[in-house]
Amino acid sequence: MASSSSIPCTIYFFFFFLSTFASATLRVGFYRSSCSDAEVIIKSVVNQAISQNPGVAAGLIRMHFHDCFVRGCDGSVLLKSTPKNQAERDHPANFPSLRGFEAIDEAKAQIEAICPNTVSCADILAFAARDSAYRVGAINYTVPAGRRDGRISIKQEASTLPTPSSNADQLIKTFANKGLSAAEMVTLSGAHSIGVAHCPTFSNRLYSFNATHPQDPSMDPSYAEYLKTKCAPPNGGGRSEQPAVALEFFSRNRLDNWYYVELKNRRGVLSSDQTLLSSSSTSKMVMDNARYGSKWATNFGKAMVKMGSIDVLTGSQGEIRRHCSFVN
Ligand code: HEM
Ligand SMILES: *[C@@H]1O[C@H](CO)[C@@H](O)[C@H](O)[C@H]1NC(C)=O
Ligand SMILES: *[C@@H]1O[C@H](CO)[C@@H](O)[C@H](O)[C@H]1NC(C)=O
Repeated sequence: MASSSSIPCTIYFFFFFLSTFASATLRVGFYRSSCSDAEVIIKSVVNQAISQNPGVAAGLIRMHFHDCFVRGCDGSVLLKSTPKNQAERDHPANFPSLRGFEAIDEAKAQIEAICPNTVSCADILAFAARDSAYRVGAINYTVPAGRRDGRISIKQEASTLPTPSSNADQLIKTFANKGLSAAEMVTLSGAHSIGVAHCPTFSNRLYSFNATHPQDPSMDPSYAEYLKTKCAPPNGGGRSEQPAVALEFFSRNRLDNWYYVELKNRRGVLSSDQTLLSSSSTSKMVMDNARYGSKWATNFGKAMVKMGSIDVLTGSQGEIRRHCSFVN
């Protein structure tokens, strides 16, 4: 008896989930008829920005991640603070290190000129991250679109982003909260194959690890010596501008699987990087990614698409911003 009454219930929930899922579905070629040049424009703006400064590629890939993990991929990371509201953009996880805003603004301006009120900033960012991965890593994937822009951005919410001192189990949890697996977390961390980290995000590993070990024993000691030449002891430099070092030294402007090889060499810069090799729950994934570069690249594209669908606004939700830094 109990089981017969549970069947309609199961069916009800099946359709309930199906319909909520369907309403949040993004589509490849979403702007094909409404703004057919959108993706071409974004690619050209992004390529030009990267040729002037390769760091923009890193900035845009990271920006998409920080957008998606806070309030979903709704462009909330792009909004500027106002006199009444401190936005995500000004949280220490984003400011002053997050970069690439000018490229998004430039793409948006060019697109608004030919198809106003049509292409969302959240989509522009998703495309720009993809174009960056292609330009600096030849990683090719299609981006389903149809995201709408949010109207809310709250500085404090960015504190849910993973921190560089997180251990593997904490990272697994943070990503699981967003529907991403441990393997996807490890795959996406490969983005640290490009770009930089500022000294305060890791210098405790060089100077003040713990009571018995000033230096993090999981780091290659000669690499630690090298990094010390770049980073003064915490609060020892007295300068306002903090230096930055490449997250992956070997092929710093190339998005490839050398990040994982360098983890094996104990040359991960952030504690959250090296922990992926140290932890038994993720070390095999690191080994596999270090070994099979093209498989990692394919998985990276897939994981970026999945990350790009986190809590998106679609249909008539949100708005299409006219300027990416401000709500309409
Ligand atoms: C797994 C958890 C993660 C943690 C704890 C983390 C943390 C960090 C930190 C502390 C930095 C240095 C920021 C600075 O000092 O300038 C950084 C940079 C970066 N992160 Fe992550 N990250 C994580 C995952 C990701 C993911 C999933 C992506 C993208 C798919 C990503 C892309 C990047 C990129 C490209 C940079 C370089 C940025 C630049 O050079 O402007 N990170 N990350
Ligand atoms: C990228 O992938 C698409 C679809 O899989 C394919 O049609 C296209 O030729 C690829 N482009 C490059 C430059 O590899
Ligand atoms: C310091 O870290 C090392 C290496 O991780 C560890 O073996 C040691 O127990 C830690 N010491 C303290 C006091 O936490």
